[in-house]
Amino acid sequence: MDLKLSNKLALVTGSTKGIGRAIAESLAAEGTNVIINGRSQGVVEKVIEDLSKKYPQSAFYSAAYDLSVEKERQALFQAFPEVDILVNNMAIFNDAKFEEIGLDEWRRYFEVNSISGIALAKFYLPKMLAKNLDGRIIFIASEAAIMPSPEMPHYSMTKTMNLSLAKSLSRETVGTTVTVNTVMPGSTLTEGVESLLASLYPELDSVEERSRAFMLNNRPTSTIQRLIRPEEIGNFVAYVASPLAGAFSGEALRMDGGLVPTIF
Ligand SMILES: NC(=O)c1ccc[n+]([C@@H]2O[C@H](COP(=O)([O-])OP(=O)(O)OC[C@H]3O[C@@H](n4cnc5c(N)ncnc54)[C@H](OP(=O)(O)O)[C@@H]3O)[C@@H](O)[C@H]2O)c1
Repeated sequence: MDLKLSNKLALVTGSTKGIGRAIAESLAAEGTNVIINGRSQGVVEKVIEDLSKKYPQSAFYSAAYDLSVEKERQALFQAFPEVDILVNNMAIFNDAKFEEIGLDEWRRYFEVNSISGIALAKFYLPKMLAKNLDGRIIFIASEAAIMPSPEMPHYSMTKTMNLSLAKSLSRETVGTTVTVNTVMPGSTLTEGVESLLASLYPELDSVEERSRAFMLNNRPTSTIQRLIRPEEIGNFVAYVASPLAGAFSGEALRMDGGLVPTIF
């Protein structure tokens, strides 16, 4: 299927690893030019070097900014005043019990996971609307947005916020070809999740053993009983980013391997 994404410009936040990198790869495979973001210049440049070899038809641009910091967001906006596709993917997560999470930590989660995406949407959405050429904003939430994760209450709260925001923003797009949606992945084997598994199961030796224990004990409702592969999410997000997916608007799209046990 030709997703009609060639020569578009996408910004995928947090695209040096995990789901963000997989989304960048799926878009690049369709000929989209991609702005790669992470906090370290060296890491961003290494990713660009690797992807340029793999996807010679696409151009990659470096955006080494910490997007939780307003000054760095302003630098990003100056460097890239317009994009066709914004994927608000970047987020932090760690396991913590409610009684252990101080108010400053709640504020940090709100800043990094919520305010950064709000600020980027605030900057890029008006430009997409003015252009009216299949602009796309996609928030990467989580199944935790609708089924809060018992080991991550602070993270889950920020993911629920994504759904509300995307729905509100979709009302700004009425009558245009621009869409705003949320994709909710289930547990996916990324670098971030590998660290989470190590912290939950330090007594187990391999990623495979930890993944099995995690699915069995922490994610028993998953019907696929395995961690999702990042590229499975990447390919779906590329479709949602494409002009072919213009009828998704304000949707909360699940790709969770059956983890959420309800129909809707
Ligand atoms: N993995 C899962 O099971 C899962 C499930 C549901 C939803 N999600 C969501 O999917 C998204 C990606 O998760 P992941 O597991 O792929 O994460 P990950 O492996 O931890 O990767 C996070 C990415 O974000 C970047 N990043 C972190 N803080 C940043 C900041 N302040 N500014 C710019 N970039 C920053 C990291 O880059 P550097 O370290 O290079 O700066 C990295 O590229 C998140 O929104 C997460 O909530 C994940």
